Amino acid sequence: MIWRNGQQSTAVEAGARGLATPVIALEHIHKVYATGSTPVHALRDVSLTVERGEFVAIMGASGSGKSTLMNILGCLDRPTRGRYLLDGIDASRLNRDERADIRNRKIGFVFQGFNLLPRTSALENVELPLLYTHLPARERELRSRRALALVGLAKRESSHPNQLSGGQQQRVAIARSLVNDPALLLADEPTGNLDTRTSIEIMSIFQSLNRERGITIVLVTHEADIANYAGRIIVVRDGRILRDYAVERRRDAAYELANLPPPDEEDAA
Ligand SMILES: Nc1ncnc2c1ncn2[C@@H]1O[C@H](COP(=O)(O)OP(=O)(O)OP(=O)(O)O)[C@@H](O)[C@H]1O
Ligand SMILES: [Mg+2]
Repeated sequence: MIWRNGQQSTAVEAGARGLATPVIALEHIHKVYATGSTPVHALRDVSLTVERGEFVAIMGASGSGKSTLMNILGCLDRPTRGRYLLDGIDASRLNRDERADIRNRKIGFVFQGFNLLPRTSALENVELPLLYTHLPARERELRSRRALALVGLAKRESSHPNQLSGGQQQRVAIARSLVNDPALLLADEPTGNLDTRTSIEIMSIFQSLNRERGITIVLVTHEADIANYAGRIIVVRDGRILRDYAVERRRDAAYELANLPPPDEEDAA
């Protein structure tokens, strides 16, 4: 069975734009890790569709299979069984090099720990994914500048990660994830290391990328508070989808930020 209970409006919009191919279609995905003495069945018959322009949060207890699912969605790993269509391309059959190629072209990643290169400027960090392309240097720089501006860090291009706050570092990581113009943005616990206010700032960036630029986002979080910024929540338990539902009262991060007391000076970009 294919799950199709994402937000109806999003599917309608996607249809109106003639982009009916889902960004993600998982069909009966299984993942078995055979590394230890006893095999671990991390995903069991997961079927799931995500349409273009959706914002999905994946929740579940530790060990439930969230990262395993994200690794498959991100073409970092292959399912043991089942089929994965990414933007219409069968990613479950690709070899390592082909997966690397599809990752570079279609997917942006944001991680809990930011994963920035330390002795490298914000601009160079953002430019990294473009080094694998054949774009001329000037075009790479232009795109990287644009991506940094999009997350409100135009003035911090030459700052190194240790000169930036946690929230700013995560914004650099988001800019880096966007620079390839991906079809899909995957974020695994992107606010896990951040305080409440900074988490809302990061969620506000995700929401505006999703709403204004139509970027499809799949985000893993432990926190129900964070999941409620998404339009749809998928709950995973013991490697299966337990629930998949539209968020009724979706939080609006920009609105909440506007109603918080002003930030300390050092937090300002
Ligand atoms: N490389 C691996 N080799 C063997 N078993 C693994 C591997 N990666 C994950 N597992 C197992 O697969 C199951 C699902 O793990 P996964 O990392 O997907 O959980 P998770 O939901 O992301 O948990 P957390 O919230 O702690 O990050 C767990 O039982 C885990 O021990
Ligand atoms: Mg995990």
